[in-house]
Amino acid sequence: MTSPSVGLIWVYVLSSALVFIVIGTVIRLVVAVQRKQVEETRRFSQGLVEAQDAERARIARELHDDVIQRVALIGGELSALGRIIPNPSEAVTQRIDGLREELHDLADEVRAMARRTHPAILDHLGLPNALQSLAADLAVSDDLAVVVETAPGADFGAVSPAAALSLFRAAQEGLRNVARHAGVTEATVRVGPRDGGVYVAIEDRGVGMVAPGAAAKGLGLLGLNERFRAVQGHVSIASRPGQGTTLTAWVPAQGGEG
Ligand SMILES: Nc1ncnc2c1ncn2[C@@H]1O[C@H](COP(=O)(O)OP(=O)(O)O)[C@@H](O)[C@H]1O
Ligand SMILES: [Mg+2]
Repeated sequence: MTSPSVGLIWVYVLSSALVFIVIGTVIRLVVAVQRKQVEETRRFSQGLVEAQDAERARIARELHDDVIQRVALIGGELSALGRIIPNPSEAVTQRIDGLREELHDLADEVRAMARRTHPAILDHLGLPNALQSLAADLAVSDDLAVVVETAPGADFGAVSPAAALSLFRAAQEGLRNVARHAGVTEATVRVGPRDGGVYVAIEDRGVGMVAPGAAAKGLGLLGLNERFRAVQGHVSIASRPGQGTTLTAWVPAQGGEG
């Protein structure tokens, strides 16, 4: 009497095992497809970010090599004109001097524009120097006093150029946000080693945010999220109303995790 029920149990066990195997395979397939899609999206973002960076670098080069050269040329011509005119009146001299001063300011402005568009200093002197130069620019353009603190031990050479540029862009956006939203005129930028990579934190003691997660809907922070996804890093915001805001960005070292 026992053998039919034993057989039944076997049928039950085997069919259950079969169902589990089929379900397991389907889940594995779905997960694999999803992983592939996530990776494709990441590659696509990476392509977009790289194309945008290359375009910005080109614009910065043209501003620097072409526009500024032409402005300098016009300045030289104006000086020559001042010398050519025989016995110029006071009014003429003043107008020429005024124009030369105007051109000088224009050249400064274009130079700053080129730096904002693509920090050439980042390629030549590295991230801490580029952050110092950004701080100096913001003191002039936004009246923001920025202290840059570099913790020892970071291997900036191990970070890809795209990742270093991303950290710089995070500092740029974070500091612009301090100037625009925090209601204070001071900020600190910390840069140093963390978790096999490099981090940059932009800190203020300003008004803070009620819901930092929800606030990340602005284009600036959204763009940063996208950019850091592309370089396999991440950004996060810690903020409390009345206590200030800290934007932290991290990128992995090349050949490291991620
Ligand atoms: N340092 C900060 N202090 C206070 N509020 C901030 C700060 N940074 C960002 N925010 C808030 O988060 C929002 C989103 O920021 P962001 O994505 O950079 O967009 P945007 O600067 O264009 O408004 C801002 O509009 C602001 O309300
Ligand atoms: Mg912003």
